[in-house]
Amino acid sequence: MEFGKMGPLSIVVVCLCVAALRESAEAKSLPSYVPICKRNDKNLNDCFKKATQVIRPYITKGIPELNIPPIDPLMIPMVMLEQGTPAVNYKAKLKNLKVFGLRNYMFDNVMIDLTKLQIMGRINIPMIWLEADYDIKGRALVLPIQGNGLFKANLTTVTADVKIETKLIKKKGEDYLEPKSISTKFNIEQATADFANLFNGDETLSRTTNQFLNDNAKDIVEEVKPAIEAVIAMLAEDIGGKVFATTSFNKLFPK
Ligand SMILES: *[C@@H]1O[C@H](CO)[C@@H](O)[C@H](O)[C@H]1NC(C)=O
Repeated sequence: MEFGKMGPLSIVVVCLCVAALRESAEAKSLPSYVPICKRNDKNLNDCFKKATQVIRPYITKGIPELNIPPIDPLMIPMVMLEQGTPAVNYKAKLKNLKVFGLRNYMFDNVMIDLTKLQIMGRINIPMIWLEADYDIKGRALVLPIQGNGLFKANLTTVTADVKIETKLIKKKGEDYLEPKSISTKFNIEQATADFANLFNGDETLSRTTNQFLNDNAKDIVEEVKPAIEAVIAMLAEDIGGKVFATTSFNKLFPK
């Protein structure tokens, strides 16, 4: 997936390899603990919001019937990012990325429009922490950055506005929703990060670089935001797509 122009200003998520989450694509039926919201429910938005709360303990551990992987921790085998703007310039590989804290999600501003087949909402997460094996080479603001090792980060008060536009497709005579386009807007209040073993473990360089990154976290997050939004969009498409693919429109939103 590509964002912006190619060339020196490009921001590219080269690969969000969620292959391991895609396995076992056997269509099964909606588990009985998933609350169903009627299509013409006047309080459809509230119904959906409540449903997201009811399924919290299940989705935390994963819902095999909907091919949804455990979301806490969410495991992503590989993310490859490449970005080149005047301010930041890097190639990064995150292997075995583990994302903790997603279970505390809260939805608000939910708006489901089944005539337009679009679903939007804001996801709030008080605290997320990440761990991954990183490999990075590039420049952040004025500072060169290079190394590989363990990456850890803490993000507080995370919000993501997600809008999924879908279309109906026919499978065996039945209508299913399919994601058509996804847009996301991401915000965090604070970010701290630690790259262990920068510059082959050179302690002074490693310490000053981590210090610099954390002192400038706000500006760096601002620059890296499009890449993070692309990753969230891909995850939303992956998870939303799986739910839609396993359950027909009539079963998901019955009349
Ligand atoms: C994340 O927060 C924990 C708990 O406050 C702290 O011990 C850890 O050092 C933080 N890690 C980073 C990378 O900021």
